[in-house]
Amino acid sequence: MKKKTLYAAATCLLSAPALAAPFAGGSASAGKAIHDKQCVACHAARFGGDGSKIYTRTERRIKDAGQLAQQITTCNANLGNTLFPEDERNIGAYLNQQFYRFK
Ligand code: HEC
Repeated sequence: MKKKTLYAAATCLLSAPALAAPFAGGSASAGKAIHDKQCVACHAARFGGDGSKIYTRTERRIKDAGQLAQQITTCNANLGNTLFPEDERNIGAYLNQQFYRFK
C-alpha cells in the first residue's frame, strides 16, 4: 500500500511538467528513421514479424508516456547508448503516434 502510494506520487511528479503533449517537439518522421534502422531488428528477432507486436501485445509493459521514455532509454543502453536525448524524443514521438497514443 505504501509502495503503491509512493509510486503514484512519483508518476504524478514525472508527468506534471508534461501538460503539453508527450514528446512535444519530437519529430515522428525522424524518430521512425532511427527506429527502423536501430530498433526493429532486435525486436523482430525476438517477437517475429516486423517487430511491432512488441508494442501492441496485450501484456505490453508500457502504460504511460513516462514509462515509454524510460524504456527507450533502457533499450538505447542495449545499443551502447548511441542515441542523443533528441533522438530518444523523436523515437518517442513516433512510437506514441503510431502505437501507444498517450495523451
Ligand atoms: C538488443 C535487443 C534490443 C534492441 C536493440 C532494442 N530493444 Fe526494445 N526491447 C527489447 C526487449 C527484449 C524488450 C522486451 C522487454 C520486456 O518485455 O521486459 C524490448 C521492449 C521495448 C519496448 C516496450 C514494449 C512494450 O510496450 O512492452 C519499447 C518501447 C522498446 N523496446 C523500444 C526500443 C527502441 C526505441 C529501441 C531503439 C532505440 C529498442 N527498443 C532497441 C530488446 C531490444
